[in-house]
Amino acid sequence: MGKDVIVACDYPDRETTLNFLDRFEGSGVKPFVKIGMELFYAEGPDIVREIKARGHRIFLDLKLHDIPNTVKKAMAVLSRLDVDMCNLHAAGTKRMMEAAIEGLTRPDGTRPVLLAVTQLTSTDQEALENDLLIHEPIKDVVMKYALNAKESGLDGVVCSPLEAGEVHGVCGNGFLTVTPGVRFAEGDAGDQKRVTTPERARELGSDYIVMGRPVTAAADPVAAYMRAMADFVG
Ligand code: C5P
Repeated sequence: MGKDVIVACDYPDRETTLNFLDRFEGSGVKPFVKIGMELFYAEGPDIVREIKARGHRIFLDLKLHDIPNTVKKAMAVLSRLDVDMCNLHAAGTKRMMEAAIEGLTRPDGTRPVLLAVTQLTSTDQEALENDLLIHEPIKDVVMKYALNAKESGLDGVVCSPLEAGEVHGVCGNGFLTVTPGVRFAEGDAGDQKRVTTPERARELGSDYIVMGRPVTAAADPVAAYMRAMADFVG
């Protein structure tokens, strides 16, 4: 897998999602698609099979976090669904992450790419200290969780493009950084606090960018996607 743009299909149902993907028919491109909890819980595994059958690669963003045995069994199900990428919370501990890798690995030794969420970007230093009783600087927590993920055999983390360089410094350049919070220079940031353009994300070393609304809400989503690809991948 190389540098790529992943389109977040944050839609409530199958019909809206497929109508969006239909816009790409005949364009010659099949975007890498992210399916999140909303769509997956609404439509179940069939939506994954259907989008996969249309030829898209899929990042299933379900952020698993449970006891190791439960995560291992759930990951085996996702592996059989043939997703290309999936994720979990590094806070579940190294034992949980190792169990996830075991569950995800198919009899032939192949498996989907597995990423860790370190700390959610909605968690700030205050919440870390007051709610979670973690008194280290949030940046150190993010890097420690990234390293735990690497040591557990995971392939990378979901993080801000602004953290990509440091994650690579700590975990190596081969450790993937998949980064949301990307906007075109003239775009509306929406609820994203710290945003980066696709060009800047490339300069900062992101391996994959995740873009939702700048593509899904564009008047011409195919043109917006092609622009992101040109800016990020070249
Ligand atoms: O529409 P937008 O480009 O903001 O979508 C970004 C996608 O990435 C959404 O699916 C969002 O849930 C996800 N995401 C994020 N920030 C994180 C982790 C995931 O925006 N830290």
